[in-house]
Amino acid sequence: MKHFLSIDDYNKSTLESLLDRAFHFKQTKNLPHYSEYIAHLFYENSTRTRTSFEIACARLGMHPILVNLQHSSENKGETLVDTFDNLVAMGISSIVIRHPQKGIPHHLASLNRANIINAGDGQGSHPSQALLDLMTIIEIKKNISNLKIVILGDIMHSRVANSLQTIFKVWGVENLTLIGPEEWVPAKPIHGKTSHSLKEGISKADVVICLRVQKERFSEDEVLDLSTYQKNYRLTNEVLAFSHPEVMVMHPGPMNRGIEITSEVADGKNSYILAQVKNGVFARMAILEMLTN
Ligand code: CP
Repeated sequence: MKHFLSIDDYNKSTLESLLDRAFHFKQTKNLPHYSEYIAHLFYENSTRTRTSFEIACARLGMHPILVNLQHSSENKGETLVDTFDNLVAMGISSIVIRHPQKGIPHHLASLNRANIINAGDGQGSHPSQALLDLMTIIEIKKNISNLKIVILGDIMHSRVANSLQTIFKVWGVENLTLIGPEEWVPAKPIHGKTSHSLKEGISKADVVICLRVQKERFSEDEVLDLSTYQKNYRLTNEVLAFSHPEVMVMHPGPMNRGIEITSEVADGKNSYILAQVKNGVFARMAILEMLTN
């Protein structure tokens, strides 16, 4: 079995091979044809990840099977592992899974009965998002090792931030700054330095990746003072003026317009947010191909 669980499982050379295939898929009309059945199990909401994995499967001739969890037999008491085993018994070779509990994809992978793709596990990781983000930056900026890259916002609750720090570390990006309020920026980041000042941290940045405020992941004792957050950390055109004139503005989505980013920035000339979404299909085609080959 092969799995795609976490960016730490890969070195730079494997990531380069995946990106080569992703860029190839973006350019070619001659696509390979595979016949595998790929189940999609999404225990959390998703628009981009689920749909782009479905499209990626279809473009490669694979059969995406969308398990409707609102009507699945887990509602009658069946366990997740029993659901998984039944899907495998029906001929599913790979499972794309998103789950609110960190480590669930890793647990299924340890059973070694199907290929597992982690489409986001709680506050753990979101490796395919990091891959498509890296693809989008390289596509525009080419050599990215010397760029100043910023991750802004609710870093503490973000699996995307974990996978991004890891992928930039593996890739050799030295100048990474994590910006946010003290309570949302880890004291010991996976990679990069931290800043609690948006204007200082964003100064001369080549890439700014803005994160969603993830209210659903707050613990009971966490309180969010939105107006203070917006005053100090919302990405506005005024703040963006401190970065490089050719700065790339990115956001993994879904965006809370007006909260962490203004519409002027999200829809502005520096925005690559929909370019990220487009590249998601090609990055996920590369992941699916790697697992099924
Ligand atoms: N970026 C991302 O994971 O978006 P979805 O939740 O819509 O899949």
